[in-house]
This record gives sequence, C-alpha cells and structure tokens, in this order.
Amino acid sequence: MTPATTPGAETGTPTVTEAAAPVASAVSRPVSVAAPDVATGMPDRFRDAAWRTVLRPARPADARAIAELVRPYAERRILIGKDLINYFEDIQEFTVAEGTGRLDGTTESGLIGCGALHVMWDDIAEVRTLAVRRDHLHHGVGHAILNNLLDRARTLGLRRVFCLTFEVDFFAAHGFKEIQGTPVGTDIFVEMLRSHDDGVAEFLDLARAKPNTLGNTRMLLELDD
Ligand SMILES: CC(C)(COP(=O)(O)OP(=O)(O)OC[C@H]1O[C@@H](n2cnc3c(N)ncnc32)[C@H](O)[C@@H]1OP(=O)(O)O)[C@@H](O)C(=O)NCCC(=O)NCCS
Repeated sequence: MTPATTPGAETGTPTVTEAAAPVASAVSRPVSVAAPDVATGMPDRFRDAAWRTVLRPARPADARAIAELVRPYAERRILIGKDLINYFEDIQEFTVAEGTGRLDGTTESGLIGCGALHVMWDDIAEVRTLAVRRDHLHHGVGHAILNNLLDRARTLGLRRVFCLTFEVDFFAAHGFKEIQGTPVGTDIFVEMLRSHDDGVAEFLDLARAKPNTLGNTRMLLELDD
C-alpha cells in the first residue's frame, strides 16, 4: 500500500491499538502511548479530525510502503536500505503501524511506522528497521511499535534484544543499555559468521559492516521474566 497523504502530526495520535492477528493476539491489549489530546492544542482545521493508529503484523502487500518509509532514513545512512525482495522475504518479521484519519470528510489511511524483530540465536534477536514517517514523529508511534516487538520477543522465549542505533535515548527509555563488543561466546560467533545477513555482520562488528555502523551505538536489553 502506498502511504496516503495524511493530516500530519498536528492531528495527534489519540490511540494506538493492536489489531487482532496471529502475532498481535498475544499482546492484544491497547498499547499505551504518550499522545496529545485531539481536542486540545490543535489548529482549527484539524479540530474535527479523528486519527487512529493500529498496530498489526505486516503483510506482503505492505512491502513497498515499508520500503518507502525506510527510504529517507536509508538515504541519510540512518538505516540500511534494502532491495524490495528483502522486504518481501522478511515481511513476517515486521509489525506496522497503520494510521487512518478523517479530514474534511475524507478518510485517508496508510502506513506511518514499521519495525522488525530478527531472531539471531536461541536467546537473542535484533530490533531492526524501526522507522516512523517523519510527519508522525514524536507521537508515541515508535514506542508502541518497539513495545510490540519486545512482546513478540518475550512470546518467542527470547532473553535478550540487541539494537544498533543513533537513537540512544529512545532505546534507553525501554531499558536498553549501551554495550561494547558482541554479546555471544566464541562458538556462537563462529556459527553466526556463516550468515549472509548484513544485520548479523553488523552485530558481529565485522570489518565489511563498519561503513554501515559508523557512529551507531550498540545496545542490549535483558528481558525480564
Ligand atoms: C526512533 C524513532 C522510531 C522514534 O519514533 P517516534 O514515533 O518519534 O517515537 P516516540 O514518539 O514514541 O518517542 C520519541 C520521543 O517523543 C516523545 N513523545 C512521545 N509522544 C509524544 C507526544 N505526544 N508529544 C510530545 N512528545 C512525545 C517521547 O517521550 C520520546 O522521547 P524519548 O525518546 O526521550 O523517550 C524515529 O525517530 C525514527 O524513525 N528514527 C529513524 C530510524 C531509526 O533511527 N531507528 C532506530 C534504529 S532501528
């Protein structure tokens, strides 16, 4: 789905809920997000607008919209840009945030955020490709997607979640802590070297991945029981 032009950040994000779906069902409660009250502090033309954001597992039909969401961040080397085929192949790792709103009697909808959980070993996964459309930043969408991915990690019985990011404060707010090095033993490191995945190469801090990781911080979250 191509993201539609949406009313913009001024409309606020009153609620973020999770759609009933195979992955989301384990965490089907409404996601609590810091969000402005739609009735306050809003320009007049948005006063009657209702904006709703729903989290759901991504579908193949979302792959192009995910690529579009990531593109501006990939151009600035904040995220790794991927070929469309990779988004199709990895689609089941993604949660997406879909926004729907009414403005001037017209209903518009489209993807406003995405994020993926990539399993790397028995107990560890990486949060990757977490991106919120620039006109919807700072309305709690990123936190809601990250919480969803962390719930999925718990459901999968994982103990640790890694991320490589410039957004240190954002991830620290979820309990991620800065780490040095690669948090796996030598035997696992050697096994993981067999992967062709660029994110795994970054996790292992391989020389060929250095241009992608420059300036990023390595962070790890230990999941509670
Ligand atoms: C990181 C990213 C996903 C955050 O998305 P976001 O939707 O803006 O995140 P949130 O709105 O949930 O939180 C951002 C900040 O806005 C604040 N915020 C949330 N709701 C708010 C509201 N209604 N009003 C004002 N501020 C608000 C939060 O407190 C948060 O501050 P914190 O980071 O100090 O906790 C986004 O900046 C992004 O796409 N970055 C580029 C890609 C990237 O770096 N991804 C991470 C590596 S994979």
